[in-house]
Amino acid sequence: LAAALGHRSVVLVGLMGSGKSAIGRRLAQSLGLEFVDSDTEVERAADMPIPEIFARYGEPYFRDGERRVMARLLTGGPRVIATGGGAFMSEDTRARIKENGISIWLKADLDVLWRRVRKRGHRPLLHSADPEGVLKTLMEERYPIYAEADIAIISQEGPHDAVVEDLLATLQ
Ligand code: S3P
Repeated sequence: LAAALGHRSVVLVGLMGSGKSAIGRRLAQSLGLEFVDSDTEVERAADMPIPEIFARYGEPYFRDGERRVMARLLTGGPRVIATGGGAFMSEDTRARIKENGISIWLKADLDVLWRRVRKRGHRPLLHSADPEGVLKTLMEERYPIYAEADIAIISQEGPHDAVVEDLLATLQ
């Protein structure tokens, strides 16, 4: 399978809490490919954590960095790329993914996402009086766009192994 990908990367998209990084890491291991995470790469390039990028420079600056990081990660593949939840909303990034990757949408229900993200404070978009409401709005805005991904897989509650198995079977 890794050989069949050629230079194309496997790109995981979906909302915060859908399991992109954890699933991506395991998938990369199964496929014998390098794993990269766009959030980590943006933090490395800016030399500061994401909440600080948002606080000091604002979201558009973050999005610009994210777009440039995605362009770089999509050349010289194949690798498994976990994207930040907003990365696929960029038309430029979607076009590059179409050209250089296979996109996989990890789809999950609101209650599953909410249970996974509620205890962790590193996501600036959820620094709100009503973070669950924010998540719901993001679902409504983004699901029609995530639906443009090549493959959709349901990311359920519980261990990620089943999702990784599903994905491997679908990619064969
Ligand atoms: C964001 C998701 C985050 C991170 C940033 C913005 C979003 O990544 O990129 O906080 O717009 O959905 P995860 O999806 O990995 O949490």
